[in-house]
Amino acid sequence: MLVLGIETSCDETGIALFDGDRGILAHNVYSQVEIHAAYGGVVPELASRDHIRKTLPLIKQTLAEASIGLNALDGIAYTAGPGLIGALLVGSAVARSLAFSLDIPALGVHHMEGHLLSPLLDDDPPSMPFLALLVSGGHTMLVEVQALGDYRILGESLDDAAGEAFDKVAKMLGLGYPGGPAVERLAQTGNSGRFRFPRPMTNRPGLDFSFSGLKTYTLNTINEYGDADAVRADIACAFVDAVVDTFVIKCRRAIKQTGLKRLVVSGGVSANRALREGLSTMARPLGATVHYPRFEFCTDNGAMIAYAGHCRLQGGVSEALGFVVRPRWPLDSLASPPKPEVH
Ligand code: KG4
Ligand code: ZN
Repeated sequence: MLVLGIETSCDETGIALFDGDRGILAHNVYSQVEIHAAYGGVVPELASRDHIRKTLPLIKQTLAEASIGLNALDGIAYTAGPGLIGALLVGSAVARSLAFSLDIPALGVHHMEGHLLSPLLDDDPPSMPFLALLVSGGHTMLVEVQALGDYRILGESLDDAAGEAFDKVAKMLGLGYPGGPAVERLAQTGNSGRFRFPRPMTNRPGLDFSFSGLKTYTLNTINEYGDADAVRADIACAFVDAVVDTFVIKCRRAIKQTGLKRLVVSGGVSANRALREGLSTMARPLGATVHYPRFEFCTDNGAMIAYAGHCRLQGGVSEALGFVVRPRWPLDSLASPPKPEVH
């Protein structure tokens, strides 16, 4: 089955083609970073307008790169939420109209399910059940994954998402948007031992997170020690250490609590090398393995949406012509699709 994936939930237009036998055939991401950089964050109306400009040309380009005609498509998957409502509406409307004109099914995909499944695009994918740490700009969650659509949220952030904390700390340090990669780069030049930041919510039981206090702690440290280059690097380093350590402590706890030996880490922050190193080092003595998406599939992309859509569409799921988008959409409200029929 050949599925076209369309991602437009925030500031990236992502288009991909996933085939059940051959995997990802082509994928493209157009980032709106330059449009929003001047404002220090995503401006929803500008995001919607740019998705309108980019979605169709990017679909054409992706089909051409794979030498595939529209008539070869068996289904279209698009992000239906969570995300910015105007941005979601652009992708949904394009996907639905295209599917209607081709007389093929279209399916609205949960953006975080896309992230959750993205490590399965790997050559050697982990099998379910597994634990999933989802760390993006909008969400931070630890999820017990029994099967496709069978998700139990074990813990989540009570305030800022991890990526959001990276973005805000980047702003405090005078770095650009998006902040995650910039903070990572600055941290690599800093000294690890100079400041020790708190590891929020680790000294009490449970698997929830909180990053807003850590953000304030970072700001207070900047105010106290100034913003000379060397100090900024040491502060970035202390912030990254604290975030990584917090995830290491919580993931170790979740592995012990559930007995699950496979941990999947995805979403934009999973591109962070220090986080990958910390989690892999933690897992080794526990006999657990950690799985990440390819770097290009950590941040928003169409491949994860095409893949998640394929997983569900091959079970014969179909949706009525009308569509709704969901700016908020709890991951654990999803259901498992029916099993594909075997003939
Ligand atoms: O998954 P994503 O592309 O979008 C959402 O679904 O939110 O995640 C974007 C987030 C941003 O907050 C960005 O700063 C963060 O992921 N990010 C990183 C890194 N690359 C992206 N955070 C830390 N280290 C990175 N290397
Ligand atoms: Zn995302």
